[in-house]
Amino acid sequence: MSEIIYVFHALPKQENPVLAGLFQDDISGGPGKFRYVRSYLDRDDSLPISPVDLPMLRPDVFQAGDRNEGVFGAFRDALPDFWGRLVYASNNSVPSLTVTNIMLMRNSDPLRIGALDFSSENRISEPRAISAVHDMARLVAAAQEILDGNEGGLDREEHRLLLQGTSLGGARPKATVLHEGKLFLAKFPARNDRYDNARVEMALSDLARSVGIETPNTQLILLPDGRGVFLSERFDREPVPGKPGSFFRKGFMSALTLLGLDEMENPLGSYPAIADEARKAGIDCGSELYRRMVFNIAVRNSDDHLRNHGFIREGTGWRISPAYDLMPTPAIPGVNTFFDLSIGVGKMGRKATRDNALSEAARFGLSHLEAEKIFTAVSEGVRNWRTFYASHGVSAADTEKFSGSFSVSVSKNPE
Ligand SMILES: Nc1ncnc2c1ncn2[C@@H]1O[C@H](COP(=O)(O)OP(=O)(O)O)[C@@H](O)[C@H]1O
Ligand SMILES: [Mg+2]
Repeated sequence: MSEIIYVFHALPKQENPVLAGLFQDDISGGPGKFRYVRSYLDRDDSLPISPVDLPMLRPDVFQAGDRNEGVFGAFRDALPDFWGRLVYASNNSVPSLTVTNIMLMRNSDPLRIGALDFSSENRISEPRAISAVHDMARLVAAAQEILDGNEGGLDREEHRLLLQGTSLGGARPKATVLHEGKLFLAKFPARNDRYDNARVEMALSDLARSVGIETPNTQLILLPDGRGVFLSERFDREPVPGKPGSFFRKGFMSALTLLGLDEMENPLGSYPAIADEARKAGIDCGSELYRRMVFNIAVRNSDDHLRNHGFIREGTGWRISPAYDLMPTPAIPGVNTFFDLSIGVGKMGRKATRDNALSEAARFGLSHLEAEKIFTAVSEGVRNWRTFYASHGVSAADTEKFSGSFSVSVSKNPE
């Protein structure tokens, strides 16, 4: 048995996505198939919808692998993760573990990450009203009800607002909001948070920027109860000049897709492998990627998995996206001093050490000396992390939870 999904692609500087091809899903869980449609192939401006998965504009049938429930990685990148699946499950009264990729592809959603959209019909939805910052307290409260399993109390409007969260990846509750004429991804607080995530993420984003890493435009919004909401401007959207509320879309691809892996295979990924594959795809990002790896070591961000690294299509070419989801792991000095990142760093695997970070410098296109300079500059730069925490109002108690997280003694491997 199979099911057909229409796949739409927003081409550069065009407001309306066009039909690019048909995805034939194998309902029994086998690999799906994709074929570009003739009307798309015949256009002068058509572009491959994924530089890695579906790189050629030709009429042949492309077969997805067994990974990602048999969908192409580029499609998986446009679908939500834990949070969006929870909202979808709540809206459709099904257990969230039963939500499949194909269910999430049946209804078009103009707010999906990247330039793709999907539908079970040959048409997609009009962009709908987007939440604004003044909806935030209500949205956060509604998200908490969903986290608590009390969604029965939500009204239609709250369901409608939260449904927007279903288009976004990641685990934390979130939504897309329109703010100052731009689109932002808003990450909400949740009741059982161990610290004020929004303030910490805000501080980290500024800290990353201060050591030369490209980050999105970020803002902190405060709820009436004082908790923060982290806003990150959507780097996969661009306002249409002279048309407030309308946006061009840019393609998005995660490092997971670049490496052709399934989420369960994350530990097989590594920074040097991302650099190698990016180079093969014509993306020059070695030194920026290296700086991010070093930053993640220096701030103990061990949640640096392959979906927390991305690439965007600017015009017809691809480049590394601004850095997102930068969060240190809380640590106190002297306890578990040595740690691993979530993907490989160098010849010593995932070990978060200077020696390991320097061991594969050449694969990032860097000399040993250049790599050493970046390592020193970034680890020196993060030493004043407390100033960044203070400037965003992270409480003293929350700040202490991170007292062992920054620039620990990473110069050597454990004996
Ligand atoms: N500023 C942004 N613009 C566009 N897409 C983003 C932005 N920040 C994150 N994303 C996308 O949204 C997903 C979820 O965001 P992330 O910050 O990783 O949330 P979580 O903490 O829930 O994992 C990311 O995996 C990425 O695909
Ligand atoms: Mg994430």
